[in-house]
Amino acid sequence: MNQEPEQIENERLEIKLLLEAIYLKYGYDFRNYACAHTKRRLEHRLNVDSMENYSAMQHRLIHDEAFFNTLLLDLSINVTEMFRDPWVYSKVRELVVPHLKTYPFIKIWHAGCSAGQEVYSMGILLEEEGIKERSQIYATDFNELILQKAKQGIYPMDVIREYTANYQKSGGKQSFSDYYTADYDNVVIKQSLKDKVLFSSHNLVTDGVFGEMNLIFCRNVLIYFDRELQNRVFNLFYESLCPGGFLCLGSKESLRFSSVADKFEVVSGREKIYRKKR
Ligand SMILES: C[S@@+](CC[C@H](N)C(=O)[O-])C[C@H]1O[C@@H](n2cnc3c(N)ncnc32)[C@H](O)[C@@H]1O
Repeated sequence: MNQEPEQIENERLEIKLLLEAIYLKYGYDFRNYACAHTKRRLEHRLNVDSMENYSAMQHRLIHDEAFFNTLLLDLSINVTEMFRDPWVYSKVRELVVPHLKTYPFIKIWHAGCSAGQEVYSMGILLEEEGIKERSQIYATDFNELILQKAKQGIYPMDVIREYTANYQKSGGKQSFSDYYTADYDNVVIKQSLKDKVLFSSHNLVTDGVFGEMNLIFCRNVLIYFDRELQNRVFNLFYESLCPGGFLCLGSKESLRFSSVADKFEVVSGREKIYRKKR
């Protein structure tokens, strides 16, 4: 249905006020998320809960925290998988790991780690490259519920075939089944991989720097942010990396045209791997 210009303008205003209310009441800042993404997700909730308009939604979320938590899940897309885009992991093995091997201690940050699949993929890679024991992985997300899942490391059995294929394409050196135990319809990631990870809540929009990282993975998160917010987060990563540290973004994300573009060199364009200049 086509909307009148005034109606569109009013709706935009209502959404703006709603995002402001979320920020003021709960501290989550979606004000600089990409408009189209935010609108799509809010529209979905509006329809599912048969609400009249975004002002009604604003009223409800202020007075009903459970509703806000549902909305939070709507606004944060958690889609992920193990060894997602396997060619990225093989490039990391080829171009990043040789540098990591030169450090006595390695610090890796997964920002926006979702349910942990990306994090455990990295743990496996480090183990196979013989550097897991001197590595510490920090895994963060702003969504507490998804972080709980990540800590548990329990995934449905029916996705394992796909994860196994990804692992093999990524240059995996063992049998993928070495890294989990089967438990009825689920698999549980083995404890020695979990032990290497510190999971914590961190909001890329409002929280600060992580110190002296050798590698930051932030994949398929910034795609939901507008340019201004992306630049803010790129600066946060720049500050969090040690000189010569690596940054890996998602396939649709790029440092090109960003405010930090000249502070990084491109290690691999297709895989979106960058290195902080010394
Ligand atoms: C699509 S998932 C990507 C997961 C994984 N990095 C991957 O590429 O498979 C995006 C994740 O970013 C998280 N996220 C979104 N906004 C965030 C923010 N402001 N701070 C921290 N995490 C955020 C979401 O909760 C979600 O888990």
